[in-house]
Amino acid sequence: MHVIDALNWRYSVKQFSDQKLQQWQLDNLLEATRLSPSSYGLQPYKILVITSRAARERLKPFAFGQEQVSSGSHLLVFATRTDIDTLLVDEYVSLAQTKNGASPDSLARYAEMAKGAINSMNKTERALWAQQQTFVALGNMITCAAMMKIDTCPIGGFEPDAFDHILGLNEKQLTTTVICPIGKRDPNDKYGQYEKVRFDINHLVLEQ
Ligand SMILES: Cc1cc2nc3c(=O)[nH]c(=O)nc-3n(C[C@H](O)[C@H](O)[C@H](O)COP(=O)(O)O)c2cc1C
Repeated sequence: MHVIDALNWRYSVKQFSDQKLQQWQLDNLLEATRLSPSSYGLQPYKILVITSRAARERLKPFAFGQEQVSSGSHLLVFATRTDIDTLLVDEYVSLAQTKNGASPDSLARYAEMAKGAINSMNKTERALWAQQQTFVALGNMITCAAMMKIDTCPIGGFEPDAFDHILGLNEKQLTTTVICPIGKRDPNDKYGQYEKVRFDINHLVLEQ
């Protein structure tokens, strides 16, 4: 499917059908998300895949009861690392050494730059920076899902502290940033009939 057709096809589904995604669909979508770009390549996030309906029902009240939290095929929880420090750069460098045969010199220069960037941020700025990377992964996942005819509904309306508590994320040094049910739309979902509401291209793009 052409990417524009896919993006017109997708919408934020409020009513999912009971249809489960097949394992290969889920695997492909997660692999596509793994390939997301991130600042300095540091990928400071994890994705929890919640399949159990009971577990999703436990979370739903903390997302203002939004039905789609428990009714899709799976719930993806995009969690951001809270342990952002220069060790993350070391983790990346040791992985990069095993790939591409990057020279120690070029990696050392990269590490210095990336560590400098991290050291220049205070705790709040690091958290914001890390969350921004998580949203890039979310956006990429949504587009890839549309290309694969998988439905999504990104959700920012939830209580992160409650999610973190229920999912035991504090002890894993993670925090919930955004959640996204995935699955197949119910053809009766009234939101599927609406036209896209987007400012026109001249409003979006400013030629200089
Ligand atoms: C970060 C983010 C948070 C969102 N939070 C919610 C939400 O809590 N509940 C919901 O139903 N939709 C949520 N949406 C979906 C938007 O309302 C939707 O993307 C927007 O209205 C455009 O419609 P469309 O996605 O159907 O094209 C969210 C979207 C994004 C990107």
